[in-house]
Amino acid sequence: MLAHLLHLQGVDSLVVEARSRQYVEERVRAGVLEQGTVDLLKESGVGERLEREGLTHHGVQLRFGHRTHRIDFKELANGRSVTIYPQNKVIADLFDARAAAKGQVFLEAADVSVHDFGVSDANGSGKPKIRFRTGGESHEITCDFIAGCDGFHGVCRPSIPEGALTVYDRIYPFGWLGILAEAPPSSEEIIYAYHERGFALLSMRSPELSRLYVQCAPDEDINEWPDERIWKELHARFATVENWTLTEGRIIQKGVTGMRSFVVEPMQYGNLFLAGDAAHIVPPTGAKGLNLAVSDIRVLAPAFAEFYKTGKRSLLESYSETCLRRVWKVQRFSWWMTSMLHLFNTDNAFDQRRQLAELDYVTSSRAASQTLAENYVGLPME
Ligand code: DHB
Repeated sequence: MLAHLLHLQGVDSLVVEARSRQYVEERVRAGVLEQGTVDLLKESGVGERLEREGLTHHGVQLRFGHRTHRIDFKELANGRSVTIYPQNKVIADLFDARAAAKGQVFLEAADVSVHDFGVSDANGSGKPKIRFRTGGESHEITCDFIAGCDGFHGVCRPSIPEGALTVYDRIYPFGWLGILAEAPPSSEEIIYAYHERGFALLSMRSPELSRLYVQCAPDEDINEWPDERIWKELHARFATVENWTLTEGRIIQKGVTGMRSFVVEPMQYGNLFLAGDAAHIVPPTGAKGLNLAVSDIRVLAPAFAEFYKTGKRSLLESYSETCLRRVWKVQRFSWWMTSMLHLFNTDNAFDQRRQLAELDYVTSSRAASQTLAENYVGLPME
């Protein structure tokens, strides 16, 4: 996304990617785009397929006590909405745009390392460098800036000298077991279910594909979950007194996701700028990870553009501070959704009554519903 936006501003870049194009285009990841993410994709000319295939949602549903309660975005979020459109399709659309613009993308890059991005390097020997190998060939790229958009396990963050960053994190005592099933979604909208057996989530990727999750142990062994056991658990957790059934289908993918909140401050060091999961991760409840990565890029792209147009570094210098204000609000929301909906191993009967009271409050108070709605569709950019 950053390379695409920079291209539109006349700024050259190249992308170094560890995986193959096929791998990133096939790997199922996030699927809910905030209004602001959708707008940016459309405005920047990569929204054609999104417009055709994206499923716009004007609400989400919370299910607890065997009943379903709807949060209406039209009424509570100024008509803003979210759109179901899978991350791997967003990536495919961006690959196409980069190819059309003859942008350089190095795929299946191995042994990637970043060098000389500190301010003293710039004052001394010179410019940042990226080294990597592709197809047995070694490359060294000299550049003005490095954007560390390389995820939580990437090389950029650990390359920053120890002591320059402060880490804030929290690990949750559970994970999600997720499946992709060839079944039409059993609900037109996403359902977040609170249940005494644990949290469950019904989502989708298309009118033919359901995406479903159940709360599980963080180190859950997927081999202990044959398909029948997964469906049985989903039926139990989505049970309702209403006239509703969960449609089953062939499970075509399953996996366990760990859960963690993580932020580093600052998100920059010299001429290296961290964005997305390289700088912060959120637990998945509320679907903020991809959107938060895109909002970093909405700050970083204009900052680079300003530098190349005017020579000024003011937007670059305030990058981290600008991003972190929003990052922390989104962290708070993801933590809150997670805490409200999951069973914790420390929970007692008091905590469960408190969670039910919170869900009752959130779905019955206009003020509380609005808080959920405005965070869910995406907080404004500064
Ligand atoms: C999905 C994931 C989420 O974390 C969420 O809150 C809603 C939907 C999904 O994968 O579709």
